[in-house]
Amino acid sequence: MCLKSVVSGFSPTSRGTMDAVGAPRAVPLPERVIEPPPGSDDRVTISPRLELDLGVVARAHRAFRDALPEAEVAYAVKANPHPEVLALLAEQGASVDLASIGELDACLLAGVPPARMSWGNPVKKAADVRAAVAAGVRRFTTDASADVDLLARLAPGAAITVRLGADDTGSATPFAGKFGVAPDEAAALLIRARDAGLRPHGLGFHPGSQQTDPDAWRRGIVAAARAVERFGQPVPELNVGGGFPTGHGTGPVPDLATCAAAIRGALATHAEVPGVGSWRPSLVAEPGRALVADAGVLVSEVVLVTERAGRRWVYLDVGRYQGLAETEGEMIVYRLRTPGHPPDAPRGPVVLAGPTCDGDDVLYRHADVRLALDLAAGDVVEILGAGAYTASYASVGFNGLPPLPTVIRRATHETPEETA
Ligand SMILES: Cc1ncc(COP(=O)(O)O)c(C=O)c1O
Repeated sequence: MCLKSVVSGFSPTSRGTMDAVGAPRAVPLPERVIEPPPGSDDRVTISPRLELDLGVVARAHRAFRDALPEAEVAYAVKANPHPEVLALLAEQGASVDLASIGELDACLLAGVPPARMSWGNPVKKAADVRAAVAAGVRRFTTDASADVDLLARLAPGAAITVRLGADDTGSATPFAGKFGVAPDEAAALLIRARDAGLRPHGLGFHPGSQQTDPDAWRRGIVAAARAVERFGQPVPELNVGGGFPTGHGTGPVPDLATCAAAIRGALATHAEVPGVGSWRPSLVAEPGRALVADAGVLVSEVVLVTERAGRRWVYLDVGRYQGLAETEGEMIVYRLRTPGHPPDAPRGPVVLAGPTCDGDDVLYRHADVRLALDLAAGDVVEILGAGAYTASYASVGFNGLPPLPTVIRRATHETPEETA
């Protein structure tokens, strides 16, 4: 039983306490604590809301460490930057992968030591690098010569990881060439970094989020071994990215042990690099989705059910603009639950849509989504596995609708086995 629920949001415009480095800062707003009414259970009635169970996050982090104990686990903050998530993972010794000054601030406030931070976004401004350096961050990922030059100027001596372009076939949300370079170019960037006074420390790749083919990690490691060969010496670190999948509504996914085995197998195959010799890099992994997705249930309410051109349309009070961005192109198909209806209630296909006046705000037209035939306005629809890439994607107020609030569940986290 949870003692209290905490609702919080983020303000992209509020100014934080760390202005000294000269950049506008985005920091979490103070939390609003909602006490449950006396005598009630602890469910709050705001809708939509993301209910996030910290116990599940703690377990997912432990499971990840157990599956890949040889890796430094650097949580990808973008998946869910809620202050409670960051504080929990910081306390459990996780490192973090940062993409912006806002994420840097959130991690500093959560108590993550700068030595456990790395700036994984290859696209950055001078102000980003200055803020990171001022905070004590010494590890950066890059994939372009202009960015190497920027880092050499503003972060001399920093450890540099060059990101390889990964073949992200099998990913539900592929990067499609947005990041990364071929092995030859990666080697050239490592050399450029070394010549410019940076530390050519690592190679990395990201196989694409919700990656369902473990072979994607092998392909990334093959590319990294080629880059080592071209560079002519073994880099000390390999970053195998995130991408570790969680169960959504589109069938079974490989478990962490299978992905870890693919990583270990490929590293063993490439432990000897032609012309270089032994290559046994230390590992970094940057899971985002795998640590938080299963901790989240997005609780929503049906606003309208109607018939259009022979199809049943169900409109929820949450949509593309309140956090369900990953339904774009029906990339992620969430599992749904309707607590007010027995599991064996007759169901039929629906088009599922969000509440805004925007034509894009349709979640699923093609996916086989079936909901109870007697579903009506006011009924609750729970969207499962929604702890990642939802609250952090919500718009600040499109159509006057507020960003998705998060309700933290601490109950499981506070049990002895979770804190042990
Ligand atoms: C650099 C980097 N690392 C890690 C992640 C996390 O990926 P995932 O949530 O699929 O584990 C992302 C996601 O976009 C990323 O861009």
